[in-house]
Amino acid sequence: MRRKLAAGNWKMNGVKAQLAELDNIRKTHPNPAVDVLICPPATLLSDAVKTVSGYPMMIGGQDCHTANSGAHTGDISADMIKDAGGTAVIVGHSERREDHGESDAQICAKATTVMENGLIAVVCIGESLAQREAGETLSVIGAQLAGSVPDTASAAQLVIAYEPIWAIGTGLIPTLEQIAEVHDFMRENMIQRFGTDTANGIRLLYGGSVKPGNATEIFAVSNVDGALVGGASLTAADFCPIIAALE
Ligand code: G3P
Repeated sequence: MRRKLAAGNWKMNGVKAQLAELDNIRKTHPNPAVDVLICPPATLLSDAVKTVSGYPMMIGGQDCHTANSGAHTGDISADMIKDAGGTAVIVGHSERREDHGESDAQICAKATTVMENGLIAVVCIGESLAQREAGETLSVIGAQLAGSVPDTASAAQLVIAYEPIWAIGTGLIPTLEQIAEVHDFMRENMIQRFGTDTANGIRLLYGGSVKPGNATEIFAVSNVDGALVGGASLTAADFCPIIAALE
C-alpha cells in the first residue's frame, strides 16, 4: 500500500556539472514502481526540475523557512521551492539541527508550512551515539516525533526519515535488528497518534551510510519503506542500484 521511496540528499554538493549525473540517474532509473526524489542545493533546483521534466522523478529542497516570504536574508521558502517546480522539502536534518540549532518546534513549523504549500515534508529524526549508548534511542525518537511531526500531517504529505547521527557519512550502520526496532516503534507511534489508516500510509525511510552493498538487506527490514541517501545519491552508479534494490 505504500510506494517505496528512494530519496537523495545532495547536501552542499554540486555545481551545474552535477546535473549530468542527475541526467544519468534519470536515464538509468531502473524501477518506475519506486518513487525517486533528489534534493539538490537550492542553486540547482530549477535546472534539476528541467533535467527530469517528463520523467517520474521528484525534485525537492533541503530546508525552508517557516514563512513563505519576508525579511529573512539567505533563507528560502517552501513557496519558492514549489515555484521552482519542487514537490518535497527535507526538514530537520541532523546537520540543520546541529549547525543551525533547529529545535523540534521550529522543524514542526517548517513541516507545517511545507504541507500547507501542498508539498511533501521529509521530517528527519535520529539519535546521537551517546544517546544510543545510554539506551535512550526510543525515548529520543519518541520525543522528536512528538515535537517535529505536525498534528495536521497526512499520509500523502509526510515522510519520516530515521537517520542515526552516528551512521551519517561514517560507513557505520545500526544492526538490522536495531533498524527494525526503531521503525516498528515509529509505525506504532504514528498509529497511536493518527490511527491505523493514516499511519499505515506514512513512509518511513532509513538514512545513514546506505550503499549499493547494504541496501537490499536494509530494505528487507520491517517497516522500512525506502532510504534517504547522502553520498551514494551523487552518482547514478551508486544511486541506481539502491533504487533497484527497492523491489
Ligand atoms: O540525509 C542523508 C544523510 O544524512 C545520509 O548521508 O552520506 O551517510 O548516506 P550518507
